[in-house]
Amino acid sequence: MSNRLKVTPNDLSAFWMPFTANRQFKQAPRMFVSAKDMHYTTSDGRKVLDGTAGLWCVNAGHCRPKITEAIQSQAAELDYAPAFQMGHPIVFELANRLVDIAPKGMDHVFFTNSGSESVETALKMAIAYHRVKGEGSRTRLIGRERGYHGVNFGGISVGGIVTNRKMFGTLLGGVDHLPHTHLPEKNAFSKGVPEHGAELANELERLVTLHDASTIAAVIVEPVAGSTGVILPPKGYLQKLREICTKHGILLIFDEVITGFGRLGAPFAADYFGVTPDIMTTAKGVSNGVIPMGAVFVKKEIHDAFMTGPEHMIEFFHGYTYSGNPIACAAALGTLDTYKEEGLLTRGEELAPYWEDALHSLKGEPHVIDIRNIGLIGAIELAPIAGSPTKRAFSAFVKAFERGALIRTTGDIIALSPPLIITKGQINELIDHVRDVLRSID
Ligand SMILES: Cc1ncc(COP(=O)(O)O)c(C=O)c1O
Repeated sequence: MSNRLKVTPNDLSAFWMPFTANRQFKQAPRMFVSAKDMHYTTSDGRKVLDGTAGLWCVNAGHCRPKITEAIQSQAAELDYAPAFQMGHPIVFELANRLVDIAPKGMDHVFFTNSGSESVETALKMAIAYHRVKGEGSRTRLIGRERGYHGVNFGGISVGGIVTNRKMFGTLLGGVDHLPHTHLPEKNAFSKGVPEHGAELANELERLVTLHDASTIAAVIVEPVAGSTGVILPPKGYLQKLREICTKHGILLIFDEVITGFGRLGAPFAADYFGVTPDIMTTAKGVSNGVIPMGAVFVKKEIHDAFMTGPEHMIEFFHGYTYSGNPIACAAALGTLDTYKEEGLLTRGEELAPYWEDALHSLKGEPHVIDIRNIGLIGAIELAPIAGSPTKRAFSAFVKAFERGALIRTTGDIIALSPPLIITKGQINELIDHVRDVLRSID
């Protein structure tokens, strides 16, 4: 370990931390200085079990050798190549490797550097696609209440988490929202996808009647909503959305930033649910979270629609300086190798029943009002403290960290999404930590 990592900085003021209670953090910092496989090590030398794969991204576990080596050797060989009008071999190799594991028909990839950028890319592609097809009136975007699609203006406009929207003005115009699918009165403590609520997809028909299909470019949803606190699609809901989109010529975008790369026990949620979108946004697990990267998958018809006009002309005026950065590509190739060698893209399927039982064993523990699970995702919803929403879950988070487990909370919901290498013993350990924490908080 480098010397720099052995000392705890004594001045924390300059760094304005993202999505963090800065003042609270700086009074009692929680620092990780190293990580290996399923564990972090804190600055005071404690091991912490990673119950959240970092931020839903470290699907293969930490500091995996294939990924580390790939980054090291790429950094020494080709550090950067211009992303526009120039290429380098491994970005093409990576695109092919990704298409090989993508749902059938999604055979082109556009690279970005984050989930937020993947979302902006997908929304722009959808609007531009209709325009190049001669349907320039299709500019309206439909998101969903409680949806999370990153933090850029397009993403928060189609997103539906009020705290992420209310401070930022009028956002994009021409956006509407479907209702969310959280129905605790009917579906609480469901194991896997809930029975009730598929009819909520019919709300899309209502929006089509209101706005007319000729004005709607795309619908974007997370197949399983993650950041809002894990909301599952009711049985048949995604199939219905697909049917309605197809019927009206509306593109369906799945935001698979969390669900992509094995989280549900299948490579993508599209595979898990048997529903193929027109565009699929990914990030996080594509490079195991190690180097920022995102990838937008598109169907051939969409890609091909742009490939017209004079050949010397740029077809899509969009891209990032770091789209397909060589070191990020190397990290992604190392990640895909690791997933393949260890069967991680489908390992969740084997573990899911064990995970489900372990998670639902928390039913009846203090404060628990709902438990939800799918693949290797779990959510434990707590009753909020009257007048102080989020406080109970936040104290669970801090207590869990002190006891040796990293969990994540949003609102009063604990969300769990461990690396896909977790063992059954570690599942027990994680759930026992949560149980102890629930018994110890007010
Ligand atoms: C579904 C979804 N979309 C987009 C994003 C944004 O990704 P990023 O933080 O990499 O911009 C996230 C992040 O959690 C996400 O869960």
